[in-house]
Amino acid sequence: MNKRSFLKSMVIITSGFLSAITAWGMGKFVSFSFAASRKREFPKEILSRVQPGVPFHVPEAGVWLVKMQGQDTVSAMDDKCPHLGCKQNWNPQRNLFECPCHGSEFDIQGNMKKGPAAKGMPHLHIQEVNSTTLMVSEKARRSQ
Ligand code: FES
Repeated sequence: MNKRSFLKSMVIITSGFLSAITAWGMGKFVSFSFAASRKREFPKEILSRVQPGVPFHVPEAGVWLVKMQGQDTVSAMDDKCPHLGCKQNWNPQRNLFECPCHGSEFDIQGNMKKGPAAKGMPHLHIQEVNSTTLMVSEKARRSQ
């Protein structure tokens, strides 16, 4: 193999390698985007366990369920911090959601009280899948 054919082979191998890396990265991005908008299910009977003023965590669905004092409806919030996605913890002594990663804090309705998060906890839409199962999904974004 002379120098020219060696260089040609190296260019072809390098191009193939870069194409494979790019395809792998695109596949990861697409699967991440799909996972981020996934729909999550949980048993309907969990709603009966939500007490007013006491957030109820459903880790398998990645959601906090909240019923406000004097209200019958239950709202749902994503348990991932809007900053970088760590799971929020509820601190009943402080009546706040606290992020263990960088210290963001949110009130019981998910309103941001302390950064670095720039916004509140994402609210989710609760839908009935069937008589025993509910599902949460991201609320449709408002058009501008
Ligand atoms: S991930 Fe929650 S404050 Fe950074």
